[in-house]
Amino acid sequence: MAVGAEKQQWSSRWTFMFAAVSSAVGLGNIWRFPFTAHDNGGGAFIIPYFVAVFLVGVPLMVLEFVYGSKHKGTTPLAFARVGKKYEFIGWIPALLGGGIIFYYGVILVWAMNYAVFAATKAWGTNTAAFFLNDYLQVSGNALRPGSVIWPNLLGLVFLWGVSYFVLSKDLKKGLEKVNKIVLPLMLVSAIALIIRGVTLDNAMLGLNALFTPNFPALADPNVWLAAFGQAMFSLSLCMGIMVTYSSYLKKGSEIVNLSYVVAFADVIFAFLFSVGIFAILGYLAGAQGVAVSDVATGGAGLVFITLPVALNHMGAAGYALGVIFFAMLAVTGWTSFLSLMEAFIAPMGEKFGWVRKKTYKILCGIGFCLSLVYVTGAGQIILGLVDFAISNIGLTSVGVLQALVAAWLARKLPEFQAYGNANTLPYFRLGNLWLFCIRFFTPGVIGITLLMTLFNFFIGTAPGVIAARTTPEVVVFVGGTIFVVLVASLLLSRVKWQVSLENYEKE
Ligand code: PFF
Repeated sequence: MAVGAEKQQWSSRWTFMFAAVSSAVGLGNIWRFPFTAHDNGGGAFIIPYFVAVFLVGVPLMVLEFVYGSKHKGTTPLAFARVGKKYEFIGWIPALLGGGIIFYYGVILVWAMNYAVFAATKAWGTNTAAFFLNDYLQVSGNALRPGSVIWPNLLGLVFLWGVSYFVLSKDLKKGLEKVNKIVLPLMLVSAIALIIRGVTLDNAMLGLNALFTPNFPALADPNVWLAAFGQAMFSLSLCMGIMVTYSSYLKKGSEIVNLSYVVAFADVIFAFLFSVGIFAILGYLAGAQGVAVSDVATGGAGLVFITLPVALNHMGAAGYALGVIFFAMLAVTGWTSFLSLMEAFIAPMGEKFGWVRKKTYKILCGIGFCLSLVYVTGAGQIILGLVDFAISNIGLTSVGVLQALVAAWLARKLPEFQAYGNANTLPYFRLGNLWLFCIRFFTPGVIGITLLMTLFNFFIGTAPGVIAARTTPEVVVFVGGTIFVVLVASLLLSRVKWQVSLENYEKE
């Protein structure tokens, strides 16, 4: 029996909700949101962010839920059921998602290793040198791999092994159980982080830096584009995840209000993590006698370089906080990782007619091998390039395409609207606003984001941009990623389905 024919189903809409929220809450909330907010208007960022979440994110999530639950399939199958000629488009998010897991997994391994290092503060006093030279052994050239980093390799074996163990089981025995345990844990640790953070000296310095509104910043279009990008990433959209998860919903599940619940929960988590992290940064700035903006960097630099400095300043109290923080980071990211694996691997089972266990065995094996690129000294640089191709070019293209197919190419929007309205509570009905968003607003703003990214990349004249555009690394890894995804999507869409493209309504 194929994965599709194995009839995976969530036990209830609660377990679906847990799964969708656990997927949405990830590194995007912990290390991306606080800094995107800080750099784009502080407290005033709330306005573009709410517009982005509720006028772009939620409409798109509803659309993905309709694609998945109405057509009972992951993105390729759902698109093929909308129309065979759209199947090619359905493979793109699944494969982009695949591209993300190979490196997202490695970041989780860093977090796992740092949870161990935190117990002894093994990073010493020069945390940057420790992270980049001792731990990652960055080679400085994406085409020169350097040596394999053993703790990362072992961590990767562990991560893929445990993930295989969870995902190869039936949905109810594997993924559901994990999410039920992890989501409450995430909430408790986020609240613990806040309490510890705001009770530190100078926490207010950090909170002022985060929340002081800079309203004139809202006149800058880049602030709005940052909000749209952040909302899409944080809500796990355009990666096939929400389509896949909703394909396991029971008939009649209320997809519209569920999408609001997921969006609200994601916003709340982003807010909690921001307060906790900026409180710690306020403490660090106070301890070092510098401004908060001097210590406020986002991404890996924050977590693996700046935060260890703050933990060093805390003396004995820093050990436990460090272990808890890095363990939380690993576990929070892990549920997002699992959701992405499901979105990447389940379509292969549907397509080739493999049972779940076999599908996972084959693809976890291949996935593990591909991840190995990132445990070499060149991994860090390749990660940046592939992430740029996938996040900035790939995912935004998918956002536009999903809306275009529904609204303009297959012209299914009225049918989708009727389906949504038949499957939700009366006060969450999809009206003209949703139609307007999917027809014009959502593809419009995401399309502008994409065009600006492409414009900067291909036509930008800043010396750094020109130099970056023409290096062999960029051609190989940015161009290569896009090329591989497009060619593989085309080839996969030619393979015959092992499940029926019709007669699925009654399933
Ligand atoms: N919503 C996720 C996050 O905020 O981290 C996005 C995501 C990234 C999902 C990577 C899955 C994943 F593997």
